[in-house]
Amino acid sequence: MVELAPSILSCNFANLEADIEKTKGTDLKNLHIDVMDGLFVPNISFGFKVIEDIRKKNDYYFDTHAMIEEPIRYVEEFKKSGVDRLTIHYEACKDLDKTIGAVKDSRMEVGLTFKPATDINLVIPYLDKIDLVLVMSVEPGFGGQSFMEDSLDKIKILREYIDKNNLDCLIEVDGGIKTTNVEKVIDAGADLIVSGSDIFGKDIKNQIDKYYKIFEKKSLS
Ligand code: DX5
Ligand code: ZN
Repeated sequence: MVELAPSILSCNFANLEADIEKTKGTDLKNLHIDVMDGLFVPNISFGFKVIEDIRKKNDYYFDTHAMIEEPIRYVEEFKKSGVDRLTIHYEACKDLDKTIGAVKDSRMEVGLTFKPATDINLVIPYLDKIDLVLVMSVEPGFGGQSFMEDSLDKIKILREYIDKNNLDCLIEVDGGIKTTNVEKVIDAGADLIVSGSDIFGKDIKNQIDKYYKIFEKKSLS
């Protein structure tokens, strides 16, 4: 079944613990953690201390999206702060093979993502080396933007390639996803759905339950 990874970027950071508490008692297994450095993207979010502190308060799988230049510099810090999977940007790494190797060596799962303008054909050769590919359906940097429709074709291309080659690589989609448009993202072939403002900007538990109802319905159809 498809899974959900709510992006804590849309939490109220003055009430971060309370917002995350509200996700409990649902079917949720993952949290999506957006780290931004103000260089790779024009925004700064939070760093290791925040991840470490929320790690102590829950057992969710920490699906971490590093929007930072040269993430290889901080692989150990991500691991130490409690990250389970580190997703790095194609555009941010001078030596992508080395960076993927460093994430694997530190015993985290490794994800690879790319900005909307980056040619998907540059990413495809890495699919057999990574645990997850993340399709950005907005320009990375901010929550609350509109879903880019052309990302559906990218999901379809990746789904076809992964299935044809029998690869063990999940497809995650991030940006502008709501309960009202998630079905077409699932139909295109997504395994893991990120949603920020549509969860933390609303009745958190109710929204998560709504997503899981849709996922269940889709898994039966
Ligand atoms: C954007 C982030 C997203 C963002 C999603 O750079 O990677 O994870 O928080 O938020 P929504 O769902 O509001 O687009
Ligand atoms: Zn993200």
